[in-house]
Amino acid sequence: MPIQYHSSTKTFHLYNDSISYIFMILENGTPGQLYYGSRLSDKEDFSELLEMKRRANAPCTYEGNLLFSLEHLKQEYPLYGHGDLRYPACSIQKENGSYIFEFQYVSHSIYKGKNRIKGLPAIWCENSDDMESLEVVLEDQRTDTQLTLYYTICTHLPVIARHALILHNGQSSITLQRMMSCNVDLIDDAWDMIQLSGAWSRERHVSSTPLRPGVQSVYSMRGHSSAQFNPFLALKRKECSETAGECMGFTLLYSGSYLAQVEVDNYHVSRVQLGIHPDCFEWTLQQGESFETPEAVYVYSEHGLNGMSQAFHKLFNHHLVRGTYRLQDRPILINNWEATYFDFDEEKIVRIAETAAKAGIELFVLDDGWFGNRNDDHRGLGDWYANVSKLPHGIAGLSERIHAIGMKFGLWIEPEMVNMDSDLYRAHPEWVMIDPDYVPCHGRNQYVLDFSRREVVDHIFNMLDHVLDGADVNYIKWDMNRTMSEVYSRSHSSDRQGRVMHEYILGVYDLYERLMQKYPDILFESCASGGSRFDAGMLYYAPQAWTSDNSDAIERLKIQYGTSFVYPPSCMGAHVSAVPNHQVFRNTPLNTRANVAFYGAFGYELDLSKLSDEEKEEVRQQVAFMKKYRHVFQYGTFYRLSSPFESNETVWMSVSEDRSTAIVGYYRVLNEVNVGYRRVRLAGLDENAVYTINGTDQATDGRELMKAGLVISDYTSGENGETYNGRNGDFISRLYVLES
Ligand code: DGJ
Repeated sequence: MPIQYHSSTKTFHLYNDSISYIFMILENGTPGQLYYGSRLSDKEDFSELLEMKRRANAPCTYEGNLLFSLEHLKQEYPLYGHGDLRYPACSIQKENGSYIFEFQYVSHSIYKGKNRIKGLPAIWCENSDDMESLEVVLEDQRTDTQLTLYYTICTHLPVIARHALILHNGQSSITLQRMMSCNVDLIDDAWDMIQLSGAWSRERHVSSTPLRPGVQSVYSMRGHSSAQFNPFLALKRKECSETAGECMGFTLLYSGSYLAQVEVDNYHVSRVQLGIHPDCFEWTLQQGESFETPEAVYVYSEHGLNGMSQAFHKLFNHHLVRGTYRLQDRPILINNWEATYFDFDEEKIVRIAETAAKAGIELFVLDDGWFGNRNDDHRGLGDWYANVSKLPHGIAGLSERIHAIGMKFGLWIEPEMVNMDSDLYRAHPEWVMIDPDYVPCHGRNQYVLDFSRREVVDHIFNMLDHVLDGADVNYIKWDMNRTMSEVYSRSHSSDRQGRVMHEYILGVYDLYERLMQKYPDILFESCASGGSRFDAGMLYYAPQAWTSDNSDAIERLKIQYGTSFVYPPSCMGAHVSAVPNHQVFRNTPLNTRANVAFYGAFGYELDLSKLSDEEKEEVRQQVAFMKKYRHVFQYGTFYRLSSPFESNETVWMSVSEDRSTAIVGYYRVLNEVNVGYRRVRLAGLDENAVYTINGTDQATDGRELMKAGLVISDYTSGENGETYNGRNGDFISRLYVLES
């Protein structure tokens, strides 16, 4: 049983082979945290971990017990009042203006498996043996309000999921002003905090800093999870590396504005909270109404950062992604955006697709510009019907031609947006989220549709349904190209404006869900100016995401390396694009561009007809190679071996589940002259198996490859003049395919 309740001490112990999470009901009836970390033996009484007896001088003690102070106790879901003066998980106001609540234990239930969360993404399991769940019901009797804390532990993964629900039964209303998904109070602050930060075209760069007293956070108030701060943070011990040591990762299954913070108090306790961003959030509950938070996921690893990431990858591949493409190899695609931008017609598109089909590419994706009067980015968004001057046979006709040449067909949409120059805006200017008293900001000449309104989501669904129904569409790229700046709904009364940001995301999820239900075989790829909404919430609907608009192979080393901290290669859209690259104007070899993109949902984004015959042949070979090994690239166990943030050389590898195949990617940014010999110690191999290495007559056992390392030295510099596969100089890369 992974969840035990010890009634004599009112203690809950969630555990599996690798982790334990322990809390108990304190003497004031609220839940107090005891431990989160490596697995402990189960027992009836863990109350020594409360450490209550050590301080008698706490300022906010309870009547009759000078030892009991919430200022010092670690808690499961702290509230304002009663002596805890750190950030509360939840802040609620009563009609009389008071913020004081006290939720005391009423009951609990433990069951196999896990329930879904209505309208929100959540981890799930097919087989109820894979997870066990706990619900703890607490109550504030004075207001007749219930708080339920939900926990799930995975049986075979070091993973805990949490969220909370508040149900108000009292007569007078209450107003939520902050409602986080979780709270964990860690006993010390000897951690470095890792975050994935960046901006457009340099998403999810890894940065790390020691915790310090006070609050440190990552957040978004942009209406999407953002390129600026991914909804993720990890805490690692100083000595923790990629391969060894203790760390824990936290992420939120949510795509809107969020807050993830660590508060280090004056006693070195680190309080971690994740949830909807409390700024501009306000949710009033009348009698009988409830509010449920998004889900947060914790991963614990004693095997370094790779161990943490691998647990996230397994969790997301097996227990987050849904539908036809779950655990399936992703089709190799070609996208016309960087090949044509808005300048295309049916014949041009078919020509690009024909060249791609000859190379073995499986899916053609028609990007922006196919609808309304969308000839540039000033107009057309919102008018989801084909532009017949470009596509005389409409989407159905083009799709038929693409299928006739043996490819699947995919389509770009941006359903949440509208241009003022569009039929939709002319018919419904009130559907745009702005405050009409002010001049609104635009982003890329577009405005955000008010997805907190049901009729807007219905209307967009109907338009898209009209396009998809009858056209054989196999893939959709769902883009979202601006942040939100004036979040105001003209359909909501003044006391409901604090809901709009969250209701917007619920509207997005609802549209996804409806399209998925009606078109279950469509593969969705989410996108937001590249990777601005790359989060675990989105993966519940769209199994892959466009990682970044930056398609330069060297830039992608950092972006994909950082992204892999949380997200598996199966979900990272990665394309080979033209040189000079359109974002950084860099020239990189064609094989390096592919060698980086292979570790993802692979594709091309250039006009193949412009390549030389030699290059076309190289593309054909790349596609054949990817078809043979894509399962290892996309679903193998991924190891980061050398970081682009710390070195001129990046090395990573993927190992098949049975460890019979491994592919090591080696990338060197700049050439160096007369350097020493080098070896890279590999990971995850079967130490007794003998592996052959492509391009050599070498056969080496896994133990040697992991302990002594794989020799990567070469002669690409100096007077020798030798090359590796005919390539030399800067931006070179190699793939080592190891087979046992
Ligand atoms: C931003 C995306 O990230 C690009 O890939 C492309 O789809 C453009 N939008 C189209 O407008």
